[in-house]
Amino acid sequence: MGNAARIAVVGSANTDLTTFTDVFPRPGETLFGKSFDLGFGGKGANQAVAARLCGAEVLMVARVGNDLFGEATIRNFASFGIDTTHVRVSEGVSTGVAPIFVEPNGQNRIIVVKGANDRLLPADVDAAAAELRRVDTIILQFEIPLETIYHTVRFARANKIRCIVNPAPAIPAELANLTAADYFIPNETEAQLITGHAVHTPEEAAACAAGLIGKGFQRAVLTLGARGALLASAAGSTHVPAFPVTAVDTSGAGDAFIGSFAVFLAEGLAEKDAVARANLYAAMSTTGVGTQKSFPKRAAFEAQWSRRAAKT
Ligand code: RIB
Repeated sequence: MGNAARIAVVGSANTDLTTFTDVFPRPGETLFGKSFDLGFGGKGANQAVAARLCGAEVLMVARVGNDLFGEATIRNFASFGIDTTHVRVSEGVSTGVAPIFVEPNGQNRIIVVKGANDRLLPADVDAAAAELRRVDTIILQFEIPLETIYHTVRFARANKIRCIVNPAPAIPAELANLTAADYFIPNETEAQLITGHAVHTPEEAAACAAGLIGKGFQRAVLTLGARGALLASAAGSTHVPAFPVTAVDTSGAGDAFIGSFAVFLAEGLAEKDAVARANLYAAMSTTGVGTQKSFPKRAAFEAQWSRRAAKT
């Protein structure tokens, strides 16, 4: 695998059905949307693609259904050069899908139908154990069964592999089964649901992050959208500002952050620098439509970084 970062994603793959609209229907009402986009998504798949576009060797461990979306998803991974040895096809269930609605300001609302993602079990992780032991970092999200996430966190800890948990979308979980992860990375909504702390101001974000550290996490990164990110540990928290952009679609920005952050860390950057770069990578992703198709290649990112970082 050479000197590139080696990242594994144990996670979800969906087909994204994105509608751009100014208005949302009331019950019983039919309205016209403005435009539509069909794309590859799923938080796990998006994070894998972001890591790959940033230059990592990427292994995907996932489940898709035996349908057109499933076949196309596997081809899509392969087209990026992502290792699909452990992307398995489940019978009798659909590939995950995500109807997404995007408002004129780029804000999104997403409904995920998990389908085959719910068939990704601890046995699938065990089947990939030999390959997983060779990676620097394993990334997890919450679109697969919690038992698989807990099992993979234990696997990563036992094998001294860096582990990043992105609790997205937020669902009730046994936090004690996750605190062995190296990084816990929720967005504002997820952090609020998990801790009960509101996250509207920088002070509230700091209190919320301290709450996560108090629950036993070693490090937390709160992604704050257009306000950047907050990096927290037992030593305190640091706000890392965002890079201003004109957003057209924020879908997948959190995934762009996490996939790129994993690569920057694996390449040896200090945490704060890795967060700053991931902030820019995520911001750039919001300037294009869709999730994976809006993620920049490493060269385009580096060109922006040279321009923008010089001004900070
Ligand atoms: O984070 C964005 C992703 O959430 C979309 O690609 C959609 O599939 C859902 O998983």
